[in-house]
Amino acid sequence: MAKKSTGPGGGGKRTNHNVNDARGLQVRVKTARGRKLSSTLWLQRQLNDPYVLEAQRLGYRGRAAFKLAEIDDKHQFLKPNARIVDLGCAPGGWTQVALERCGETARIVGIDLLECDPIPGATLLVGDFMDDDAPDRLKAVLRGQADIVMSDMASNTTGHPPTDHLRVVALVETAYHFAAEVLAPNGTFIAKVFSGGTENDLLQILKKDFTKVFHMKPKSSRKESPEMYVVAVGFRRENDVQ
Ligand SMILES: C[S@@+](CC[C@H](N)C(=O)[O-])C[C@H]1O[C@@H](n2cnc3c(N)ncnc32)[C@H](O)[C@@H]1O
Repeated sequence: MAKKSTGPGGGGKRTNHNVNDARGLQVRVKTARGRKLSSTLWLQRQLNDPYVLEAQRLGYRGRAAFKLAEIDDKHQFLKPNARIVDLGCAPGGWTQVALERCGETARIVGIDLLECDPIPGATLLVGDFMDDDAPDRLKAVLRGQADIVMSDMASNTTGHPPTDHLRVVALVETAYHFAAEVLAPNGTFIAKVFSGGTENDLLQILKKDFTKVFHMKPKSSRKESPEMYVVAVGFRRENDVQ
């Protein structure tokens, strides 16, 4: 996993990953002095997670790579030469999968609060997508329209559910506001949403702006996680970007 590979495949390759999602524990981690129980349990889960192990084997930067691969296996939007914006791109698994499937001629720009090790063929910016200047920074790299805007952003939880909910909603809405400014005709918008799907107001807008809107919980998304993804295909609204 140390190698900064763009993933195992060449451009245009779509690989079905049959990860054996057996839940039986193989590795037990002993508690250690100075390590919190929650850290021990996290470590144990990582060491026994078949997607973590498969991501390491294939050179992906994280198990999240399989979520995008699964979403694309179903909806087939990652095409050669695509222009893609990856919101919340660190550590880089989605960008790796996008490059692998769209090829080196794809134009991919990502942004994250955290610094991401470079991925040859992609431009990765550090910053808060909610900052006023973030959309313009992305547009400057994009130099035109995008075929795909994808967001795997998740805000840190505060432990105060109403606040957390508002933050998640704000992230998805801001991501779509940006997507609507840059998407090319027939473009695709993908975003992580929580708690049973997209908020009703946004869902109504997506249904108007796209020919089809789906929700999907990939197998590689942990069952206990409330996350799922909205996939909107066939953008049909006009914007000013050419
Ligand atoms: C689940 S991770 C993304 C994983 C990524 N798709 C991959 O495959 O490696 C979510 C990311 O969203 C980023 N994030 C959350 N809020 C953000 C914001 N306001 N602006 C930019 N990035 C944000 C986090 O820093 C985190 O790295």
